[in-house]
Amino acid sequence: MEYFTLNNGVQMPLIGFGTWDIRGEEGKKAILSALEIGYRLIDTAQMYENEEIVGQAVRESRIPRNEIFLTTKLYRPSVGYQKAKAGIERSLDQLQTDYIDLLLIHEPYEKSLEMYEAFKESYRDGKIRAIGISNFDSARYEKFVRSCGIVPAVDQVESHVYYPQLDLKVTLERYGTKMQSWGSFTEGRKNIFADPLLTEIGEKHGKTSAQVALRYLIQNGIAVIPKSVHRERMERNRNIFDFALSEKDMEQISSLNENRSLFGWY
Ligand SMILES: NC(=O)c1ccc[n+]([C@@H]2O[C@H](COP(=O)([O-])OP(=O)(O)OC[C@H]3O[C@@H](n4cnc5c(N)ncnc54)[C@H](OP(=O)(O)O)[C@@H]3O)[C@@H](O)[C@H]2O)c1
Repeated sequence: MEYFTLNNGVQMPLIGFGTWDIRGEEGKKAILSALEIGYRLIDTAQMYENEEIVGQAVRESRIPRNEIFLTTKLYRPSVGYQKAKAGIERSLDQLQTDYIDLLLIHEPYEKSLEMYEAFKESYRDGKIRAIGISNFDSARYEKFVRSCGIVPAVDQVESHVYYPQLDLKVTLERYGTKMQSWGSFTEGRKNIFADPLLTEIGEKHGKTSAQVALRYLIQNGIAVIPKSVHRERMERNRNIFDFALSEKDMEQISSLNENRSLFGWY
């Protein structure tokens, strides 16, 4: 397993399993499959309404808790100090765990700093191993980082071959924050799985366009959390550490950058 070392020394797997839209018994089975295959980071959020099945899958997997990295996020209902405190307890309860590995503010809110105060307190109490943010662009990040007290360990943002956000990554790096991509497959937009360039480069390496898309991000120093409910896809998505894109491949893939969000977040 390949890891990033976060700014407080915590090790975070470079590849994790995304759980957006995964729910119920079928969802739990998918998370269990991901753990069986070898995923050790599970990305959830209160907004996804699936923390409970994530917690159940972790328990049922019988994998020691300290070998699994759990990320969750608090959103609008937890904005503000007291609400965030309550939100953290709710996540711990839903996930059936004593600690969360990474807790993120799901998106910028007016009272993000107050929310973060609660994060910092739980971090100091040992209930959270690392704290961070999500969907903060450069301007919001720089404003936040100036007064937040503890530099976020991670900013989880939209990032894929059509909008890698490498400029944002440079800004984050300057302060010691790691970038993690959501939507590495654009949730299928732009027909990424049949992209002619990604397919052509993949054929050279005996890989699929999906694997090339993930590898491009990894080689740019960006962590990934692809989601799939299909076991064979989960396996293939993880199988990206036995090849390397050449400088020319990287350059060609960079030409796909359209420099605009495909999701309208920023
Ligand atoms: N912080 C945020 O605001 C935010 C926003 C969005 C997402 N996220 C997180 O990031 C994770 C990943 O993003 P995402 O789920 O939105 O989208 P994604 O990972 O870009 O794409 C998932 C889609 O790709 C398909 N897929 C996966 N592997 C494939 C493969 N090898 N070949 C063909 N199709 C494949 C999946 O279908 P099947 O399942 O049918 O295989 C699914 O439809 C989420 O699950 C969530 O944990 C965070």
